[in-house]
Amino acid sequence: MNPPGVTLITGASSGIGEAVARRFAAHPGVELVLVARRGERLEQLAAELPVKASWLAVDLTDDDAPQRILAHVEEHHGRLDCLINNAGSAWRATFEEGGWENVRRTMELNFDAQLRLTEALLPLLRRSAPSSIVNVSSTASRISRPGAGAYSASKYALTGWTDALFFEERKNGVHVGLVMPGFIETEGFPAAELTGNPMTSWLVASPEVAAEAIWEVGPGGVAERYVPRFFAIAAFIRILWPALARRLLKGGMGKRFVTSTGADAADRDASESDAHSDR
Ligand SMILES: NC(=O)c1ccc[n+]([C@@H]2O[C@H](COP(=O)([O-])OP(=O)(O)OC[C@H]3O[C@@H](n4cnc5c(N)ncnc54)[C@H](OP(=O)(O)O)[C@@H]3O)[C@@H](O)[C@H]2O)c1
Repeated sequence: MNPPGVTLITGASSGIGEAVARRFAAHPGVELVLVARRGERLEQLAAELPVKASWLAVDLTDDDAPQRILAHVEEHHGRLDCLINNAGSAWRATFEEGGWENVRRTMELNFDAQLRLTEALLPLLRRSAPSSIVNVSSTASRISRPGAGAYSASKYALTGWTDALFFEERKNGVHVGLVMPGFIETEGFPAAELTGNPMTSWLVASPEVAAEAIWEVGPGGVAERYVPRFFAIAAFIRILWPALARRLLKGGMGKRFVTSTGADAADRDASESDAHSDR
């Protein structure tokens, strides 16, 4: 086992990250570092947890975010045993609609920010070894759907990099693992289109199920986990029988499994309030 000790969770203000904080806090001796943009949420969560928990409100895409987080961990905890790169978002658009700009902003958060933070914290993780990193990718990093290309690209990149980093950091005692959720009902990914239909609601799992998988991959030292586990079937079909994957996902079927996201709703709210202020 890799001791959870001091664990840093990005995206801890909601969904999977919040569930991870509660799961890890059930383990005696754990200290948590909670990171996201909404400080009030982090402050409240930290106060509710039965373990020492500090928090830092920061936008992970800011230039100085990695150095600010490193300084916070050094000042308040002095070591780092587990890093959970969980923060992420999805903006739905075809390439025709969203173009490179949608790919750029998705990569900036779901890929670049994870690497920048890992680069800043790796020396501390090595000094604290045995330690671990969990990258929260997605089943979308193994199989793409129409309208979710930017998201899949960012998660394919994260998954590919994770596998390489696993080999590179073994000698330093830093275990690097991967979690690939399918559909988990959260603020960012409400999956309302699926939960509202008895034919598809069974596909959607809770954030607690994802948090358990993250526990097994980080402290537990497991290489990778799909959440729920049966989502591995989608990846196997894509790799072993790509023509079948394309046949299944083209047309209406593929679109049905691209659920609307919290990031899209936030964009819509922002443009409506801009339109009101222009009147
Ligand atoms: N739920 C699913 O179905 C599903 C499936 C596959 C993969 N995933 C992955 O799981 C991870 C967690 O997602 P979730 O489902 O728990 O969604 P969520 O509830 O929307 O959580 C996303 C977290 O990321 C934080 N975040 C977003 N942008 C940020 C930024 N620029 N800087 C710092 N923090 C930021 C958010 O906090 P603030 O808004 O406070 O910053 C929030 O805490 C993501 O990487 C997602 O891609 C989810």
